[in-house]
Amino acid sequence: MISGFPVRIAGTGKYIPEKVMTNFDFEKILDTSDEWIVTRTGIRKRHFAGEGVKCSDLAYKAGLAALEDAGIDASELDLVILATNTPDTVCPSTAAKIQGMLGAVNAGAYDVLAGCTGSLTAMLTAVTGIASGVWKNVLVIGSEDFEDVLDWSDRSTCILFGDGAGAAVLTRSEDGGPRFAAGEVKADGSKYRLITIDKEEGRDNPVLRMHGAEVFKFVNVHLPPFIKSFCEKAGVEPAEIGFWVLHQANTRIIDSLFKRLGVSTERTLMNLEQYGNTSAASLMVTLDEAMKSGSIKSGEKVLFMAFGAGMTLGALLYEA
Ligand code: ACO
Repeated sequence: MISGFPVRIAGTGKYIPEKVMTNFDFEKILDTSDEWIVTRTGIRKRHFAGEGVKCSDLAYKAGLAALEDAGIDASELDLVILATNTPDTVCPSTAAKIQGMLGAVNAGAYDVLAGCTGSLTAMLTAVTGIASGVWKNVLVIGSEDFEDVLDWSDRSTCILFGDGAGAAVLTRSEDGGPRFAAGEVKADGSKYRLITIDKEEGRDNPVLRMHGAEVFKFVNVHLPPFIKSFCEKAGVEPAEIGFWVLHQANTRIIDSLFKRLGVSTERTLMNLEQYGNTSAASLMVTLDEAMKSGSIKSGEKVLFMAFGAGMTLGALLYEA
């Protein structure tokens, strides 16, 4: 359980780049079909950053939108955390670049790299830092620019991913107001080779590789017991969760999780169909869409869930 000062979500934002690639576009360059992709993944299209546009550009726009929504000036931020698997540079952090772009002159900045669990991990870091009194206002951004790291000839992987960014400003809350109640992250490093972005001979850029079927199996075996045990420790039944903010990787994974927990899919928002898997951005984009559409009601319990490269798993409980 999270103790100390209560922490709430003050505002959210997102930025999805304009360039669109549909399943039909993939049919023109690969031995695949719209039918195969929709049935196996739930994805119909995804967006890409486009030539010369970087992770920081997408993140900056999502960050600005979240600050505006929160009514907080960049100078009031104590920290900018960026979750990404596709930073502009390994060093310095892309978060530092964004801190400069935003003019967040009083804030620290660093990147978090935890696969698709990155933004959940970044949120948990922000929450514990605010709860302890170290920080008051933290901007958490998830942003991905996969376009340059995909192997466009690998049909089992390149059809899954898309670019985008989402952000949230977390701030100290009032006693009795909305608050994050619990959080947990886990990793199984023995499976670190299942999803990688690494250098390969004969390629200019690092390339994303995924053993899709093994990832699918790992997640289906480990995710439902992880969520059940998280709920148990947090003292809440899955049936009591009013809304689920889920990492968007594959509709079959989400359907199977809900079936195993006995929860209706009506209690979540899916945008995989439009954006594909935007990895560390996915949870933040989904959070923004859930907040803006009024899907998250005041007073209800909200569960955030993510999984990804590492392999990593994470959950957060919010009382809205
Ligand atoms: N179009 C047509 N056929 C295809 C395609 C495609 N795009 N991709 C693969 N196939 C073929 C395969 O070659 C294989 O053919 P074969 O039987 O002749 O060998 C067949 O389809 C089945 O392949 P599988 O890999 O077993 O297909 P599966 O049902 O497992 O679906 C998928 C593949 C969608 C990748 C699935 O495994 C999956 O979603 N895995 C999880 C991915 C995920 O959740 N990742 C999240 C983490 S990402 C991160 O952290 C960065």
